[in-house]
Amino acid sequence: MPSPSSAFIIRHANSKDVGHVSDILTESFYRSANRQVNSLQRYFTDWAYPLLRYGIMLDISSRFSEKTPCYVCLVATHPANKFHAIASLEICMRYVPTKTYREFWLWSDRLWSDRQQYPYIFNLAVHPQWRRRGAAKQLLLAAEQTIKQWGFSRSYMHVLENNYPARNLYDRSGYQLHSQEGNVNYWLLGQPRKLLLQKKISS
Ligand SMILES: CC(C)(COP(=O)(O)OP(=O)(O)OC[C@H]1O[C@@H](n2cnc3c(N)ncnc32)[C@H](O)[C@@H]1OP(=O)(O)O)[C@@H](O)C(=O)NCCC(=O)NCCS
Repeated sequence: MPSPSSAFIIRHANSKDVGHVSDILTESFYRSANRQVNSLQRYFTDWAYPLLRYGIMLDISSRFSEKTPCYVCLVATHPANKFHAIASLEICMRYVPTKTYREFWLWSDRLWSDRQQYPYIFNLAVHPQWRRRGAAKQLLLAAEQTIKQWGFSRSYMHVLENNYPARNLYDRSGYQLHSQEGNVNYWLLGQPRKLLLQKKISS
């Protein structure tokens, strides 16, 4: 294992990275020890792991092959093994509401009609064995460079309100709350709300 200060190499993903990126996403979003799941859920996830991984692999492969103009998957590798991705994120263009969190309450009826396309970061994940070494922070900085090269000065992402490691990371990286979604499920089913975060990227 490298020292915590090791810098990672950030590059565009290619078709050879699909397997590693699928592993990272499946481990991070379905099997990570940080997730609060009961033993039944854990048993089910272990059982369904190959299926979940396969589904993720198909999704990523199709995004890679679509060759959409503003889409990119960035991966982080350690200098000792440049071919093995240990973290990844994706950026695409997505419609987001232009009203801010405060304006949402004042103009909620107009929220969904005022939407514009902006760069949107998603699927940021670091393999559990490589966390707290700065990989996510480095990937976010690289994503901002890409977004600037696309000619945008703002980016968006979603985070669940109970994902404290990610919220801490985004907070420290300068992302701010724009609006929140899922209030009905929150009040009725106790499910965590989805927070839409925004960052103005300086030139
Ligand atoms: C969230 C996640 C991407 C962070 O990746 P990481 O490489 O460990 O993050 P970094 O090392 O770059 O951390 C940068 C800062 O973020 C914050 N942070 C990261 N992980 C944290 C944790 N577990 N608890 C509290 N703060 C945390 C810290 O402020 C940290 O700075 P520090 O280490 O100097 O204190 C990683 O935990 C992960 O893959 N989680 C599962 C997938 C996920 O939830 N993705 C986000 C979807 S919105």
